[in-house]
Formats: sequence, C-alpha cells, structure tokens
Amino acid sequence: MTLDAIKLQIEETSDVAYAALDAKNFAKGLGFSIADQYTIATAVSELAQNIVKYADFGHVTLTTIEKGSNVGIEVVAKDSGPGIEDLPNAMEDKFSTGGTMGVGLPGTRRLMDDFHIATVLGEGTQIVVKKWL
Ligand SMILES: Nc1ncnc2c1ncn2[C@@H]1O[C@H](COP(=O)(O)OP(=O)(O)O)[C@@H](O)[C@H]1O
Ligand SMILES: [Mg+2]
Repeated sequence: MTLDAIKLQIEETSDVAYAALDAKNFAKGLGFSIADQYTIATAVSELAQNIVKYADFGHVTLTTIEKGSNVGIEVVAKDSGPGIEDLPNAMEDKFSTGGTMGVGLPGTRRLMDDFHIATVLGEGTQIVVKKWL
C-alpha cells in the first residue's frame, strides 16, 4: 500500500516508537528494501526522540516524493521548542546538551540522502530529510 502523506503528533516516548514503526511501514509501501526500511525508521526515531527530549512537542510528517521516475520518502520533523543554540556543534558526533550519545543528528545526516535543518532560537526547529529508492 502506498500513502501520499501522514502526519504524526510527537509528545511522549511511545509516540517515538509508533513513528518509527509507521515510517518503516510507509517505506515498505514505497518499495524500500528491509535494510532501508530500518534506516528510515532509525532516522525518524532519532528526530522524534529529539522532539520529545528537547522540545516537548512537535510533529513528524512522512511524504512520498517523486523526481522524474525516482520515488522517495521525505521526513519532516518540526517543533516549536527552544531551537538549537549551537548548530555547528549539534551536527558533530558526541555533542549533546542532554547527557546522551550525541549521534542523533549527525547519524541521521549520514543515514539519509538529503538533510536540511532550520532552527531559530525561541521559535523552534525543522529538519527535512529525504531518501530515494
Ligand atoms: N528538536 C530539537 N530542539 C532543540 N534542540 C535540539 C533538538 N534536536 C537536537 N537538539 C540539540 O542538538 C543536540 C544534538 O542532538 P543529537 O545529535 O540527537 O544528540 P542527543 O540527542 O544525544 O543530545 C542535542 O543535545 C540538543 O542540544
Ligand atoms: Mg538525539
């Protein structure tokens, strides 16, 4: 089954697990390999976890994208939290203001084909990642 888009509310830890599962199924519906399904689920899990941990509340949207005959998935993680104070450091391995591993953002960038982040202090953070089939 192929879906055009789904929007998931992210507020608590259980939402992170459901978002990862939804992402895996969405990717499966698009024809991604099992390995890619888990890659995409991992990226969604990291982004959703950051929303819960650093912003309290937000959304993850999964969208089918097409370019010519290419098909892919776009994941948008958006919150109205505090924003990221030190973005260059936040994109480095092992940087965490929360005492955790600090590999969520750099790892997600490595896992996906495309990674864009926009963050404004006091306004929030939006991360857009893509993976092509
Ligand atoms: N949605 C977010 N809102 C505010 N700050 C964030 C958000 N996501 C990440 N950050 C900041 O970026 C840092 C790095 O994130 P990440 O690589 O996922 O590591 P970790 O989650 O282990 O701290 C976090 O420690 C935090 O300071
Ligand atoms: Mg993280």
